[in-house]
Amino acid sequence: MKVGILTGGGDCPGLNSVIRAVTKSLIADASADVIGIEQGFLGLIERRVRPLHWDDVSGILGRGGTILGTHNRADPFAYFGAGGADVSAAALAYTAELGLDALVVIGGDGSMAIADRFARLGLPVVGVPKTIDNDLLHNDRSFGFDTAVATVTDALGRLETTGQSHGRVMILETMGRYTGWIALEAGVAGAADVILLPEIAYSVAAVAERCRERERRRRLTLICIAEGAAPTGGAMTVAEQVAGAPDPVRLGGVAHVLRAQLQPHVSNEVRATVLGHVQRGGAPTPYDRVLATQFGTQAAAMLRRREFNRMVTLQGGVLGSVALADVAGRNRRVPLDHPLLASARQIGVCLG
Ligand code: F6P
Repeated sequence: MKVGILTGGGDCPGLNSVIRAVTKSLIADASADVIGIEQGFLGLIERRVRPLHWDDVSGILGRGGTILGTHNRADPFAYFGAGGADVSAAALAYTAELGLDALVVIGGDGSMAIADRFARLGLPVVGVPKTIDNDLLHNDRSFGFDTAVATVTDALGRLETTGQSHGRVMILETMGRYTGWIALEAGVAGAADVILLPEIAYSVAAVAERCRERERRRRLTLICIAEGAAPTGGAMTVAEQVAGAPDPVRLGGVAHVLRAQLQPHVSNEVRATVLGHVQRGGAPTPYDRVLATQFGTQAAAMLRRREFNRMVTLQGGVLGSVALADVAGRNRRVPLDHPLLASARQIGVCLG
């Protein structure tokens, strides 16, 4: 068997751990040759690949980023480099030319949507869920999320000490796109007083009241807000639109919007920090290394069983798989009855 492997969409900690696990697992039992495809689907369009041997994937378990590179706009079905034209037939022909029997796609919902379209054209595919946002359907935990939560939690701790010194309202904006998983888990772990998610529209008056109530006790207020959060009746804060991208909306800046909304209503100074790509960089946590390794070996097992056109999943602590079509282009949002929301409310956290 000859297997291609690519990492698509935004990077996240743990991608190298998966590449390593898939490659070593397939080489170890001599079941496949592995071909690394560079910069996600762009490598299939621009014909850039390289063989992956044991030594190529040694020493990368804890390395952030992806040794293969990635791209978040390279959709062969609407290629930005050809004015949005469909170049999927040429990309598919290239996989045949390479002699690929299957393709491993490590990516988020956008990459799974592209993978699903290739699968329908006859290319056997195995998907592996990656995203710091933790928003893929039918999957409880994607690798990269734990690392992002650890980074945000650390940042909240730092904002707490400086905010306490000055008696300020400190706002931290997290990534997470249209879901609030990062803000919720890191907000709880970082002892935020207010946690604002895209799933729950926030009331400026309610947040201001919480800040004033804390001011009366001369304490700081720590606010953790997801980039996709919006006030009641308001829209999400869009930083820019990227033409030709599968998802052209780049969120960002809601922390500054909230700062301006709150400042007239509180005495303490309100400061905003947008954490940005720090959340995607650096070494994966031990949890993410282990999860990514398990996802990689599960993908290799699916290849051996010829269990194609499905994505690896972790549900209820058990590894499994789901049809690509069931996850492609869809998000898993924080359910309003999620137990962690209930816990946060019980300990007095304001959810907006
Ligand atoms: O999906 C991962 C993610 O980091 C989101 O949390 C964020 O909104 C987006 O990607 C940022 O993408 P880019 O790196 O293209 O700005």
